[in-house]
Amino acid sequence: MKPEIIITAKGHAGTMATLQSEFSTHLLADAPDRASFLKQHSSAVRGLATFGPMPVDGKLMDALPKLEIISNFGVGVDAINLDDAKKRKIIVTNTPDVLNECVADTALALVMNTVRKFPQSERYLRAGNWASRGPYPLTTSLGGKTLGILGLGRIGEAIAKRAAACGMKIRYHNRNRKDVPYPYDPDPATLAKNADVLIVVTPASAETNRIINEKILQALGPEGYVVNIARGSVVDEPVLLRYLQEKKIAGAGLDVYADEPRVPPEFFTLENAVLFPHVGSATVETRKAMGDLQIENLRRHFAGKPVVTRVV
Ligand code: 8YV
Repeated sequence: MKPEIIITAKGHAGTMATLQSEFSTHLLADAPDRASFLKQHSSAVRGLATFGPMPVDGKLMDALPKLEIISNFGVGVDAINLDDAKKRKIIVTNTPDVLNECVADTALALVMNTVRKFPQSERYLRAGNWASRGPYPLTTSLGGKTLGILGLGRIGEAIAKRAAACGMKIRYHNRNRKDVPYPYDPDPATLAKNADVLIVVTPASAETNRIINEKILQALGPEGYVVNIARGSVVDEPVLLRYLQEKKIAGAGLDVYADEPRVPPEFFTLENAVLFPHVGSATVETRKAMGDLQIENLRRHFAGKPVVTRVV
């Protein structure tokens, strides 16, 4: 008999098809009444395949007393309460590494687009302004500027390589200093002060909640740019909005938001912000690799083998 699992939300077609063929699946997103859906499956479900930001907490875990494993699609597991899982001896897995290069490509693109204003210049052309008003205003070079990386993990290092290829200098801050050739700053405010572009790559947690606050934006200053490819929760969004509106920083590049997919519409009118719709890892190849790893973790667990990428 195939192990029974709940899929929290629809993933892309290939991953869904494999999940549905290898496991007996139930889709939570389709359930009109979540409580009765959970009750109906509570005695049989041994696994959860999680997609997206839906919170997975102790209450949900308790509604599924046979739950053994939560296999997340994505490296960030901030939607899953890890302490609650640990207490209940539920394994949590994620999909690290397979997305590093794609996310780093997105990060570099966001840095470049934010500083060089390519999307804004393209809109300028499409609006017919090039012919009527003349050339698009000059922007700022990346070469010689300092990229401050907050959270130099595997993705951060892939970003550093790309930025160095553009002639940028790299600095970083982590909780713990690493054996890397980049200068270390002891706290986020010092990093912001030393950086022309501050990029946030740190995982979301209670500790990093709104780590990019007024103090950091002030340290970044009116010539500084902030780029967020981590999670919306790591930035104080209303403060960032005000700093952009009042031009207290030079600009922002955002791939993630506090309440996705809802983005405060005030951001849409800003000329000094570049906004991506959470596309960090969004390529066919990478999403397939993420899905394969999510499935492999489930497969191995139900075959009685150790999972590949365990978080807790
Ligand atoms: C995905 C991500 O967009 O890996 C992550 O943590 O944020 C992204 O790669 C997300 O997991 C899709 O559900």
